Amino acid sequence: MSVHLGSTLKKTAQTVQKQKLNGEKITMLTSYDFTLAHLVDAAGVDMILVGDSAANVMLGHDYTLPITVNEMIVYARGVVRAAKQAMVVVDMPFGSYQISEEDALRNAVKVMKETGCDALKLEGGEDIVHIIKHMTSAGIPIMGHLGLTPQSVHKFGGYSLRAKQEAEAEKLMHDALLLQEAGCFSLVLEKIPAALAKEVTEKLTIPVIGIGAGNSTDGQVLVLQDMLGMNDGFKPKFLRHFAQLGDAVKQAAGDYINAVRSGDFPNESESY
Ligand code: KIV
Repeated sequence: MSVHLGSTLKKTAQTVQKQKLNGEKITMLTSYDFTLAHLVDAAGVDMILVGDSAANVMLGHDYTLPITVNEMIVYARGVVRAAKQAMVVVDMPFGSYQISEEDALRNAVKVMKETGCDALKLEGGEDIVHIIKHMTSAGIPIMGHLGLTPQSVHKFGGYSLRAKQEAEAEKLMHDALLLQEAGCFSLVLEKIPAALAKEVTEKLTIPVIGIGAGNSTDGQVLVLQDMLGMNDGFKPKFLRHFAQLGDAVKQAAGDYINAVRSGDFPNESESY
């Protein structure tokens, strides 16, 4: 079902599920602010993720762990105002859903109420299934996230490829099925072998969105600033630069500095 908003149709958990059924690839990009979310939405992306990668991209932290519920809410509000057709999914940050079912639901309700987003995303498998059931029972659409789960970076000691070994791959498949059974409407698989992602995608009836998980998933997600080429320091194998905005911004800022210093800007036509 799409929700009618004036003349536009807004994507929902049901429309992305229908895309899987119809074999139509699902597109998702992150955004953390009104301006970029407006452009991404106008381009026609299916889902916008207000990822807790905002901790890195917007706040300059080394990890995603420090970002708070209130910080996520500020970013998500701008994105929700911009998204006219895309479904907006917001990451529940580290610590906001691990303490107890009651605390998790309180935080989830707060994010839904204060942002107006369409769904939430949580990292983890079997350990958090009871939390996810609590949220889906309350009517909140949940996207799962398995494979590389950045909130657990200290447990794994880095961001290496996950589920390479058979035991870990079996556990991931088991977790994926549990998340589907718990009511997740969709699942992100991050940085796992393409063959395993294909198997999970074929086994699950809910849409599987990959990042660093090969080309057989039902859809793809990338961090916007990474795919726009704004982050020199991050170039994993799975990332493609669809633009070189980092260079363009540096060039424009340099041209502006030169124009101001030389007295060329503003000129007469740019003055009142
Ligand atoms: O926080 C994020 O941006 C994410 C994506 C990488 C899937 O979780």
